[in-house]
Amino acid sequence: MKIAIFASGGGSNAQKIINYFRHHPKIGVALIVSNNTNAGVIDLAQKEDIPFYILQDGELEEEEFSEVLVALNIDFIVLAGFLKKIPNDIIKAYPNKIVNIHPALLPKYGGKGMYGMNVHKAVVESGEKESGMTIHYVNENYDEGSIIEQHKVELSFSDTPEDCAKKVLSLEHKFFAPCIERLLTE
Ligand code: GRF
Repeated sequence: MKIAIFASGGGSNAQKIINYFRHHPKIGVALIVSNNTNAGVIDLAQKEDIPFYILQDGELEEEEFSEVLVALNIDFIVLAGFLKKIPNDIIKAYPNKIVNIHPALLPKYGGKGMYGMNVHKAVVESGEKESGMTIHYVNENYDEGSIIEQHKVELSFSDTPEDCAKKVLSLEHKFFAPCIERLLTE
């Protein structure tokens, strides 16, 4: 099974997923896709010798890109901090085969504009006693696909948005790759 990871940022989740599947008998990371030439995840792809593709607006028609994925025999798509909307053609070509990780307990703190530190600021400013991570399928609407797995972490009253982000990220690093493995082997 070949996974493509789509990411726009530093790629710490991508690194965990690559490490987890490095010696896996059936599953491997075959492609990294980013919309950002400066993304840390591109350096990671080069370091790990994994092919990468920069998906920029207008450069390649949506339909052509879903054909590229199919031609590369990509079986499953993992969004790990990918900030661009997934083109509908890709969603149609990969039904129930695209998952996203969201750094909060959906359905709270999801939707347009709710990414990165915006999420953690909103959680802390609302006085939440807990936050967490959600792995969900991707459909046409932001953060609305069905939920696959959630994990929670307690927040203390003194936690800043940065503290909250650290706590949630460590949950992501622990649970994302095993969840992908389960989805691909069940
Ligand atoms: C993670 O918190 C993920 O939930 C969110 O973006 C962040 C990506 O971090 N969607 P990294 O690039 O994997 O370090």
